[in-house]
Amino acid sequence: MESKRSVALVTGASSGIGAALSERLARDGRDLVIVARRRERLEALATRLQAEAGATVEVLAADLTEPAQLERVVERLHEDERIDLLVNNAGFGGYGPFAELEPDFADRLIGVHVRAPMRLTRAALPGMLARGRGAVVNVASLLALSGPLRAPMAGRATYVGAKAFLMSFTQALAVELEGTGVQAMVVMPGMVQTEFFSTKRGGEPGAAALMSARDVAQAIVVGLELGEVICVPGLDDMSLFDALRNVQKATLFGRSAAQLAERYRR
Ligand SMILES: NC(=O)c1ccc[n+]([C@@H]2O[C@H](COP(=O)([O-])OP(=O)(O)OC[C@H]3O[C@@H](n4cnc5c(N)ncnc54)[C@H](OP(=O)(O)O)[C@@H]3O)[C@@H](O)[C@H]2O)c1
Repeated sequence: MESKRSVALVTGASSGIGAALSERLARDGRDLVIVARRRERLEALATRLQAEAGATVEVLAADLTEPAQLERVVERLHEDERIDLLVNNAGFGGYGPFAELEPDFADRLIGVHVRAPMRLTRAALPGMLARGRGAVVNVASLLALSGPLRAPMAGRATYVGAKAFLMSFTQALAVELEGTGVQAMVVMPGMVQTEFFSTKRGGEPGAAALMSARDVAQAIVVGLELGEVICVPGLDDMSLFDALRNVQKATLFGRSAAQLAERYRR
């Protein structure tokens, strides 16, 4: 008999935040579809969660930067009505001066952080809307806010641009979804203890204190329960985001868009 448990599809589940969240969701009683490139890691996690949490865990090995492989995940979302949570978490860092970043690498970065979440969200939403329930979680980063900041922050334009896309995309989507029963939430962690920093472009955590991936997973689960649109695992004072929204609003609607600003009149 087919399981009636709801199913979460989590990308980037072979390590770090995705693995910790998959574990948490399985222990909370969900079945899973877990996605990443390293099949053996996914299979080991699936075997463990089946044994320890009684979850049915399907492994879907895919490189989300490869259109044909991304399409297999899109198809998986189309075919399973039990998937009521999509977590777009897969990703890697892209630190270094932009003019030195290999164009293909920058392209793959956009593929995994922007194109894949957009395509997977587009695939998941119609079914969720028809059923009147579900959630899409996009894992961005606090660095989405860091565009104008200078040293000691390293060169990071493509990564930050991609994470800013995820933040704005999710916020605007959440407005569209109001009243539908379907949630959209963007997660904005600070530095987290994962394999993120082990790659050439992952940057250096230095002496910074890192949050555990398990705590980020906890914030995601509780953030969804709270109905948050922005989930910042390490921030107590969320009124800062209200202030930010007010500045955005004032900037957008503050003056007549038809009038040339004073400083441009020569
Ligand atoms: N760690 C931090 O300080 C931090 C802070 C803010 C935001 N984040 C974000 O958190 C998310 C998770 O990262 P993490 O910190 O948990 O790092 P991680 O331990 O390196 O995990 C990254 C995951 O993404 C998967 N992945 C990478 N490229 C992929 C691709 N092309 N196709 C499919 N899966 C791919 C990796 O699996 P495979 O290698 O097996 O494919 C892995 O499961 C990322 O989006 C990252 O930008 C991290």
